Amino acid sequence: MKVGIIGSGGREHAICHTLSNDQKVNHIYCFPGNAGTAKIAENIKLNLDNFNELKDFIISNNIDLIIVGPEKPLVDGIVDFLQDNNIKVFGPNKLASQLEGSKIFTKNLCEKYNIPTAQFGIFQNVNDATNFIKKTKYPLVIKADGLASGKGVYICEKSKEAELAIKEIFGGKFGKAKNLLIEEFLKGEEMSYFIISDGKTIKRFDTAQDHKRVLEGDKGKNTGGMGAYSPSRLINDNLDSKIISKIIEPTIRGLKRMGINYQGFLYAGLMIVDNEPYLIEYNVRMGDPECQTILPKLKSNLLELFLSCCNEKLNEVEIKWHNEKSLCIVLCSKGYPDEFTKNVLIRNLNKIKFDKNEYCYHAGTTIIKEQVYATGGRVLNFVCLSQNFLEARTKVVNMINSLNWDNGFYRKDIGYKVIEK
Ligand code: AMP
Ligand code: GLY
Repeated sequence: MKVGIIGSGGREHAICHTLSNDQKVNHIYCFPGNAGTAKIAENIKLNLDNFNELKDFIISNNIDLIIVGPEKPLVDGIVDFLQDNNIKVFGPNKLASQLEGSKIFTKNLCEKYNIPTAQFGIFQNVNDATNFIKKTKYPLVIKADGLASGKGVYICEKSKEAELAIKEIFGGKFGKAKNLLIEEFLKGEEMSYFIISDGKTIKRFDTAQDHKRVLEGDKGKNTGGMGAYSPSRLINDNLDSKIISKIIEPTIRGLKRMGINYQGFLYAGLMIVDNEPYLIEYNVRMGDPECQTILPKLKSNLLELFLSCCNEKLNEVEIKWHNEKSLCIVLCSKGYPDEFTKNVLIRNLNKIKFDKNEYCYHAGTTIIKEQVYATGGRVLNFVCLSQNFLEARTKVVNMINSLNWDNGFYRKDIGYKVIEK
């Protein structure tokens, strides 16, 4: 079978690596992939905004299945386009992807179906929003409506910060803004909850917690993720059934009433307050770095899972997991998430010795003349599965130390809430 994967991050390398170990898969194309996928797949550079170019490549190379990693092509309707051209593709369609593409769409769905979430208001102009923030309690949260790569969210402690947020969003910092959201600030602990669905059946796909802030102790700027661990320390049977019955099921039912069948991964970003789940946001894809953290724990066959979703046969598949804990640390370029130097050589990658249950997934890397260079802010994801989180982290840190890349930095405290000092 020939498989194509869209995306270039650690998430896509983890998917590519898992599928490359499958005897049924004899060729993988990555659009565009990275230095890690180049070793096990064929990297193809195409203009991904031009769906026709992609379609022509898929058809002329007889690719049997396409997996879409990131949100942008999903929100832009790549699944509808490929399906219309009789191409098998795993991921939600354009209407379903509004769950991530429009925060207001999701908030309205929450309101209609009583899905627990932060209280909110939608504002169409600077005046209304500014009048509102003069009368409310702080902290509060202000969000741009559309996709903003995790940057369109402001946690405001005082009115000055809120005024700036309103100005920046309506000023077009995240694209033309017709409206914005103002939300109550929820105080609790965050958790990433994943399900997979074929449009008829939903199945749990494990939990994780990620560390989004750049500095140790969860301080400093927000990033795309500095590390993660799985399972979440918060999950228990009681909470799990509340998440399914109060959040996931009403969402899928609500979509169905609009004529939308949800197919693909669904990632609920939750705030857990006293063992009660609140929806912060939906993502219509796997998390990154959660995917790199979770996939090595998967005992079941990933290809079979993807195919069963495309064929609406997920009910026939059982998803099984290894019992070990998993922990992932992201090695970043110095300076990230601000300015950093690009095209820096990474030596010693072949000197790392991988034991069983140890993995290195590439993110922002490329190959130039057979050498690996860092091109992005988040460069390599080191993952280890172990009986306990402390051992997993120690082994991950040993791998990073043996690489000894002097342009890199990482957080040594990933998982501190599940690892005693
Ligand atoms: P989002 O892009 O919606 O995931 O938001 C980015 C981050 O802002 C989340 O991971 C949370 O840490 C935080 N956040 C968003 N909404 C809220 C809220 N209503 N209350 C508290 N924190 C929030
Ligand atoms: N881990 C955060 C995200 O994938 O959006």
